Amino acid sequence: MTTTIAITSGKGGVGKTTVAVNLALSLALQNKETLLLDADLGMANAHILLGINPKYSLEDFVTGNSPIDKVITTINGNLKFVSGGNAINNLLNLSDLERHKIIKSFNDLKKKPEFMLIDVGAGAESSSMTFMSSADKIIVVITGEPTSFIDAYTLIKTSFLDHKMNNFGIIINMASSPIQAKLNFDKFQSITQKFLDVNLKYVGQIPNSQKIRNSIISRTAVVSSKNNNIETKAFNELSSKLLMVETNKTGSIKFFDN
Ligand SMILES: Nc1ncnc2c1ncn2[C@@H]1O[C@H](COP(=O)(O)OP(=O)(O)OP(=O)(O)O)[C@@H](O)[C@H]1O
Ligand SMILES: [Mg+2]
Repeated sequence: MTTTIAITSGKGGVGKTTVAVNLALSLALQNKETLLLDADLGMANAHILLGINPKYSLEDFVTGNSPIDKVITTINGNLKFVSGGNAINNLLNLSDLERHKIIKSFNDLKKKPEFMLIDVGAGAESSSMTFMSSADKIIVVITGEPTSFIDAYTLIKTSFLDHKMNNFGIIINMASSPIQAKLNFDKFQSITQKFLDVNLKYVGQIPNSQKIRNSIISRTAVVSSKNNNIETKAFNELSSKLLMVETNKTGSIKFFDN
């Protein structure tokens, strides 16, 4: 059985890709077979943090040149990756049919992963909504900034009212301390639950860290078997809590039949 988890946010630049890549590495290090899908189509950049330049991307699949297993890059024994292509391809404006074709294709994989993490584009536009509603679980990344709160609220509102998603895991990124992060979550939860009948679970926090900021420049994610720093510990703690986020029952097409 595969558990698919969409990593999303209201506002851009809050750390979705950082969280998705490092959580995927953390799961893989715990011997969980993991597939990371960069579904930030047309703006895909997870491969940069992974320090790779994949030969194939979803573009090759969508244009019919390659079956889905051909566009999968092996990162290490337990981690596989599908790139979302870059800005100069046509993936920004996919039709509903093409997006559905991508989603349905994963069920044909001979070897299905235990976890599939999906780095979804920011905001509530239709591409993000399709990938979110096809995932089993949703994680919204927010920071302590008021704009991040407002945009995350808007995303959750649209997901709930228009697409029947009501369970969301929350990760507070760039936290000044674990206590502050929890306070931020409590504040966000009380605002959200005042107006929307949704269930928010606190998954945890990632500290604001120069090491993480530098990781994109050095093209090396912080989580690795060699690191035992606070950043790696934070990602390991989060990855062990992913399954506590409740599953959404949206009635949409899913990545895997299970
Ligand atoms: N915990 C953190 N501490 C410090 N810097 C961070 C942290 N998390 C992310 N960053 C930095 O913030 C920037 C944005 O991160 P990232 O690209 O992961 O965000 P994103 O939400 O995926 O952005 P986009 O919406 O453009 O896809 C990057 O420079 C990244 O290194
Ligand atoms: Mg990103």
